[in-house]
Amino acid sequence: PARAIIVVAAGSGQRLGAERPKAFVALAGRSILEHCLDGVFGMHEATQVIVVAPAALVPEAEEIAFRAAGAARDYVSVVSGGATRQESVHAGLGLLLDSVQTVLVHDAARALATSDHLARVAEIVEQTGGGVVPGLAVADTIKSVDAGDTITGTVDRSALRAVQTPQGFPREQILAAYAAGGDDHTDDAALCAAHGFSSIVVAGDPLAFKITTPWDLQRAERLLAERAA
Ligand code: C5P
Repeated sequence: PARAIIVVAAGSGQRLGAERPKAFVALAGRSILEHCLDGVFGMHEATQVIVVAPAALVPEAEEIAFRAAGAARDYVSVVSGGATRQESVHAGLGLLLDSVQTVLVHDAARALATSDHLARVAEIVEQTGGGVVPGLAVADTIKSVDAGDTITGTVDRSALRAVQTPQGFPREQILAAYAAGGDDHTDDAALCAAHGFSSIVVAGDPLAFKITTPWDLQRAERLLAERAA
């Protein structure tokens, strides 16, 4: 395959307050990871799929990933992650096949992201030869505050985007950025930018929201119930 997607699922999910790591928490009767993989395996283009899981849950993640892959299981692997998201992505990059030219990195926690949303990011990377990040305009007015919560300013929201995943990059760019490493970043575009590789923001999809809090989990359950009805 000329494309790969690294699905990072090695976080603890403390803000969700569940007993299990977030990607393994049940959402409408199946794990968050399983829902995420519905979107991944719904893509038409041949794609290498690399799932990054907590070390103790690699066997469970393998079972989930191979079941979701069905006949497409030749290009599926699971690897254990690290203490930070950045370390987890780095672990996944170690498994890239030589044929892969476009790399997507996707949060398992964005369980409802559609196949079209994922594929579109890859297509734009291939058209532009640069990094691509889906994002949405910010609806709220954003304030900066000091340590005592006194407002120090209003940020111009027209210049802001709330970004999602998958974030997509040409193979050489993301490999060079991760090989150089550096400070911990919460997304891949920031690490690439730190090494001179710029990215563009393209239209995101509200369905690609990240399940972080119990409220997000309820919202995802309601959306899935509506879809099934
Ligand atoms: O913590 P946050 O919600 O930003 O995590 C985003 C994604 O990164 C999640 O899907 C989570 O499982 C993953 N992650 C990881 N390894 C870590 C921390 C987060 O794979 N050490």
